[in-house]
Amino acid sequence: MEADRNTGPPAVASGRTTADRLGRPLQDLRISLLDRCNFRCPYCMPESTFHADYEFLKRSQRLTHEEILTVARVAVGLGVTKLRLTGGEPLLDKQAPDLVAGLADLAGVDDLALTTNGTLLEPVAAALKSAGLKRVTISLDSLDDDVFARMSGGRGSVRQVLNGIAAAERAGISPIKINVVVQRGINDHTVLDLLEYFRGSGHIVRLIEYMDVGNRNGWRMEEVVPSRELLEMIEARWPVTAVGRNYPGEVARRYEYTDGGGEIGFISSVTEPFCGNCSRARLSADGVLYTCLFATRGTDLRTPLRHGVGEAGLAEILERVWLRRSDRYSEQRQPEVAAAQPLSKVEMYRIGG
Ligand code: GTP
Ligand code: 5AD
Ligand code: SF4
Ligand code: SF4
Repeated sequence: MEADRNTGPPAVASGRTTADRLGRPLQDLRISLLDRCNFRCPYCMPESTFHADYEFLKRSQRLTHEEILTVARVAVGLGVTKLRLTGGEPLLDKQAPDLVAGLADLAGVDDLALTTNGTLLEPVAAALKSAGLKRVTISLDSLDDDVFARMSGGRGSVRQVLNGIAAAERAGISPIKINVVVQRGINDHTVLDLLEYFRGSGHIVRLIEYMDVGNRNGWRMEEVVPSRELLEMIEARWPVTAVGRNYPGEVARRYEYTDGGGEIGFISSVTEPFCGNCSRARLSADGVLYTCLFATRGTDLRTPLRHGVGEAGLAEILERVWLRRSDRYSEQRQPEVAAAQPLSKVEMYRIGG
């Protein structure tokens, strides 16, 4: 797959350099609204751990929207231009559209997106759009009801997700991306059907290699389907050509059907890591800032926020964290080691992918 075409210089905001130790600018803040989800995808929140008695964060432990807005405003001051709301499932927060409106009002935000499993999208799609949401990414691992149920831990349905996608379309949210985590022997045989369904729709399907995030999904390399293999399978059916990145640090490698059927993306964190341009910081629902999806620790922002640190003080904390950042987990990991000796990594449902 082709190399990056344009790696811009580190961002400088408010006279401050916000590049980390590897020269990567802080550009992207992913905000988890809450740690709960109405799904139990075994690769993310397996039911065996996240059962009825599991204690999720209490409301008082979660950042308020006001606090989230403060962190976002400070991050934007340090160079962030891209915000994404995630969960768990962010639409379990019924006030999500209000927060979107607040974030959309921040000067300097070019991109405002939301990642959701789509089941709760239908009633709020129009409100999210009018609040200023630019893009939505919807997880849908298979169109086959049984396979879908296996991937979602028996929650939700294909129909609900398709209704959510249709509602986003009607609301005029564009582009819509469809995220598919591919697991060997579980949903890989349904990938071509899913691609066929969305060909010509204008929506972008992204095929994601199953990752060793968190400590609880029992990840095994054997279950990863390398993007290269999927690409060969796709090319045998439809000719595709590689297209360049939309922006430096884009996670997906993009391809287009040569017959004009649209775009497909591959997210190959296991076989082709992309840490070199990683400009993403992640904020958990309880206000911990993480500088890597695979981090073993983060920086508590909630305590200083609740002790009146103020925006200048918060900016100093964020800047200090970013300046000392050197994470590049995916490039360093060896699959055998990742599987055999799991570190105590942050769980994906806490920082939303
Ligand atoms: P765009 O803004 O549309 O380019 O989306 P994105 O690809 O940044 O975001 P999305 O939330 O859709 O990410 C899709 C998947 O890519 C996630 O669910 C993760 O599996 C994976 N991913 C995203 N960011 C990272 C990252 O920084 N590191 C790794 N290893 N995987 C990531
Ligand atoms: N590997 C790859 N992607 C994952 N996601 C959750 N867990 C994993 C994993 N282990 C993805 C979901 C969704 C996003 C929130 O994160 O499919 O697209
Ligand atoms: Fe929920 Fe998404 Fe995790 Fe599935 S992958 S359990 S939908 S947060
Ligand atoms: Fe960024 Fe960490 Fe993912 Fe590498 S593994 S791309 S540093 S979040």
